[in-house]
Amino acid sequence: MNNVILLADRNSHAWGFAEKIQLYIRQTKEYLLPLCEVQVNKFRNGEIGVHVPENVRKKHVFFIHDSSKDPQDWWVELLLVKDLLLSASAESVTFVLPNMLYSRQDRKDKPHVPISARTLARSLSHGLDRIITIELHAGQIQGFYPEEVPVDNLYAFPEVVRYLRLNHWDDIKDIVVVSPDAGAAGRTKSFLRKMEKAQERDLFKQNYSFALLSKERSKPGEIGGMQLVGDVKDKNVIIVDDIIDSGGTLCAAADVLKANGAKKILCYATHGIFTRGTLELCNCFDVVMTSNTYKQEDPNIKVIDMTPIFAEAIYRAHLGLSISKLFD
Ligand code: R5P
Repeated sequence: MNNVILLADRNSHAWGFAEKIQLYIRQTKEYLLPLCEVQVNKFRNGEIGVHVPENVRKKHVFFIHDSSKDPQDWWVELLLVKDLLLSASAESVTFVLPNMLYSRQDRKDKPHVPISARTLARSLSHGLDRIITIELHAGQIQGFYPEEVPVDNLYAFPEVVRYLRLNHWDDIKDIVVVSPDAGAAGRTKSFLRKMEKAQERDLFKQNYSFALLSKERSKPGEIGGMQLVGDVKDKNVIIVDDIIDSGGTLCAAADVLKANGAKKILCYATHGIFTRGTLELCNCFDVVMTSNTYKQEDPNIKVIDMTPIFAEAIYRAHLGLSISKLFD
């Protein structure tokens, strides 16, 4: 992996994330990838300035960005870093985005609204070589990027299933896997399949089942109502989502599941933003799990490390090896 460098903002969550990627590649592939710094500062009026002290000429640069930043700063920093790297003659530029922000508005669900995921794609695409991200809100967002900018959408579920089998073996006996809304049904079923596949070699097989909550939103960020389709009576359940923002969706779901007789209630979402804190969620659920695509500070939240998947993807993308093999 000659001429490859990792780049991140030292004063952000992305730096620790990048260090873990660097360590994984050193330990498993015996390459020490240089981790270089992008310095981010602000002018007095709030405009952003970026600077990379290192020479990047002819280098393959993997810029690891921090999803926990203000979403507007996150977007502008991507544009400025790309411009900087191209102007400095980098050989290739890959954005490693632990969460692809602006993905929730991926279609016109009512008149006179932007398709923000497409706007982001149009602004990022020019000159960019690749994006590596995980658990995109909707897989078809990849189609907003032209063919010369492939988007590798990684899956968190293999790590989550491994974690559950190691740490919550008793809780997941005959568990019901619940989708928090109709749009998440495909993702939830794929989680169910991973759970089933993981027990292929087990002597005694569990009988996992599926249920769906039908969610109505009164306005963005507020839940109108929820109905359960399926049976959770006297069963443990796990709700799987891509994002916890306010936590409103999951708390409303927990109420409906309890009212329908569920026993233990677990939840997992890859991107734990927790804009309303974690207290209410921890009261609603027996176990709350997320990943480290966002900075997490509450010890009551179980955090599953996604850096091995990103490290493998970086390694494989650079050497032209299969990424899908990671998820077989
Ligand atoms: C919605 O489509 C997403 O998949 C999540 O369910 C949603 O963003 C979660 O938001 P909140 O935690 O604010 O209910």
